[in-house]
Amino acid sequence: MRSIFSTLLLLACSFASVSQSRINIIPKPEKLQEMDGNFPLNNNKILVSKEFREVGLLLADLMQWKQNRVIVLQKGSVPPAGSIVIEKTKGNKNDSAAYTLDIKKKGIRIAASGYAGAINALQSLAQIILTQETKTSIPCALIEDKPRFGYRGLMLDVSRHFFPPSFIKKMIDLIGLYKINALHMHLTDAAGWRIEVKKYPELTSQAAWRTSYGWKKWWNSDRDYAKEGEASAYGGYYTQANAKDLVAYAQKRGITIIPEIEMPGHSEEVIAAYPQLGCVGAKKGQGEFCLGNDSTFIFMQDVITEMMAIFPSTYIHIGGDEAGKANWKTCSKCQQRIKDNNLKDEFELQSYAIRRMEKFISSKGRQLLGWDEILEGGLAPGARVMSWRGEKGGIEAARMGHDVIMTPGGTCYFDKYQQDPTTEPEAIGGFLPLQKVYEYEPMPKELEADKQQFVKGAQANLWTEYVPTMEHAEYMVFPRIIALSEAVWSERKNMEWGDFQYRLSQHYKMLQRLNVNYCRPSDRVEISPVIDAPKGTTTISFSSEQFKPEIRYTIDGSLPTSNSTLYTGPFSITGSALIKTAIFRKGRMNQRPDTIDINLHKAIGKTIVYNKKYSSSYVAQKEATLINGYRGSLTYQDGQWQGFLNDMDVTIDLGKEEALSRLRSTFMQIIGPGVYMPHFIEVSLSADGTNFTPAGKTLNDVSPTDSKLSFKTFEVDLKGKQARYVRFVAKLQRGFLFADEIIID
Ligand code: ACM
Repeated sequence: MRSIFSTLLLLACSFASVSQSRINIIPKPEKLQEMDGNFPLNNNKILVSKEFREVGLLLADLMQWKQNRVIVLQKGSVPPAGSIVIEKTKGNKNDSAAYTLDIKKKGIRIAASGYAGAINALQSLAQIILTQETKTSIPCALIEDKPRFGYRGLMLDVSRHFFPPSFIKKMIDLIGLYKINALHMHLTDAAGWRIEVKKYPELTSQAAWRTSYGWKKWWNSDRDYAKEGEASAYGGYYTQANAKDLVAYAQKRGITIIPEIEMPGHSEEVIAAYPQLGCVGAKKGQGEFCLGNDSTFIFMQDVITEMMAIFPSTYIHIGGDEAGKANWKTCSKCQQRIKDNNLKDEFELQSYAIRRMEKFISSKGRQLLGWDEILEGGLAPGARVMSWRGEKGGIEAARMGHDVIMTPGGTCYFDKYQQDPTTEPEAIGGFLPLQKVYEYEPMPKELEADKQQFVKGAQANLWTEYVPTMEHAEYMVFPRIIALSEAVWSERKNMEWGDFQYRLSQHYKMLQRLNVNYCRPSDRVEISPVIDAPKGTTTISFSSEQFKPEIRYTIDGSLPTSNSTLYTGPFSITGSALIKTAIFRKGRMNQRPDTIDINLHKAIGKTIVYNKKYSSSYVAQKEATLINGYRGSLTYQDGQWQGFLNDMDVTIDLGKEEALSRLRSTFMQIIGPGVYMPHFIEVSLSADGTNFTPAGKTLNDVSPTDSKLSFKTFEVDLKGKQARYVRFVAKLQRGFLFADEIIID
């Protein structure tokens, strides 16, 4: 829940007049000064310092000019008018990503001390060119720019669904435009091994193909692997030649490809191909390597050795996440390893394995990177951490002086829904709209100033269990990666949502021309109420993913029309109201209206006793949640949905006896993460808090196999009965119950 202050501030920003410039670069440059006039583009000469020849060639390619337009600059020569100069200048090592881009009527000059800076300048220039109506001229401007964070990443999971090299190149081109400089490839997982390893050919001959295309169907059925060429075999892999080609392609565009080879968990496909590497020795049913077996380490070192020959990245990612410990507990070899090394438990056994890999990787001059589980049982000395289970692991690692990449699930997992889940293709769950990505601050507030240097940047992760096609992958990545690019490149003081929305609106044409299947901005109106219960008033504010939408609304439950009140900023209402609002274009309502029922009901702010506790994982607003007047939104992570792993059983004390007309409570079902409707709800009433009389029961009618996100409001008619105490029970069916409010009228 946003505070009222930030909500108002945001609104003020979104509706303030955003300067509409001719140059709209994302991420926002540090300094941008627009100038009068234009620079004409017409087969210009591109004069480059020899180190930047590739940058010149990329520009020629973008403009479809001949390669011989790119000429290496001669010392002392004066560039003729109309040339584009890309020049290496002196600078210190820390500035190698910084650049100057000076567009004058008579010529363009790019200056950078490093290749990264020259590429960053080229990407700014490319955006300027590609967002103009035509490629014939661009506006004059002076840009001086550098990144806030050195690591700006995207992870693609190519195991759950395999994407061919041509698509990876398209992604490299697109994310490069937004100055993303790291592409982390999740190359191995149960769903398929995706990279040729010469020493272990069975990895690809046995485990790069599976028996069905959709991950979910496969995961919920046999989880068998298939042979290439079988009719239903789905999968594929990158040959080493493919991978080297991708590395070179990315490098030219300033992007480092970081390979991830999972260990010790998420390795079912390896064990299927080489069962002797598991504890049990069977082909199926194991996802973890045996850590008591030296062959595991020989295997990993061999594989990593081949990877290091293909991928020159400093970071080598070894996974490390979500390893089950059960097999290790009963495996004599693992237990022997624990004993021989004086390890406390299986967590220390995992840590032993990571330390051993870290030593190996460091000895080759590289750095081990792993998911934050590698902290468990003790972090290896030179390990770097990717913090995904929130920021806690990242903070802990930074405090110990280890480099950290932030990629917390709540704001960086692009496998979550980005718009109303009921209208979106099936996703893994959760809700991560564009604005939430934009507002992500990679530097944790609580991290001490002297430890902030260890936070190297942030990364978005696209896990592809529910992302079977390339078009769908584009849809999940764009435009959210554009928002993240600014969050991780630009200084906070230069960032503003309304201004970003304007610049983004100028990028859609470019994305369309580049044939990107981006998620279109939502036509929904986001409604944020701030309730003042003692005063009986509510302040309402609206926001939207559309740029400067015409939002109209009613407060009496009627359908808004083109004559309804125009929204210009937050407004206040007294008492209850049914608000309906929609975006209008050319006098017509764009979509079904969005609605909020402001109901200052009898239970708000009263006393509640939990006869059974809520789950410590989903406390929401703790004891205030169910009687604060705030309804939950589309996601259970919004701080208004409270979770229960047992029956929900509460008693509300209204403070005095009153006549009650009805009770309503809404539950959510989203079975992916295990959230189900209750079997039923039951209400009983009392005058003294001791003797309760049943007042009604309502049964569930939503099927527990209905996999779409759904909401059901359970209602009990209280028929005007008098009571001071209301006991509410919702019977757990399975998994979690999630409730947002108990509305008593
Ligand atoms: C992860 O999401 N398991 C890193």
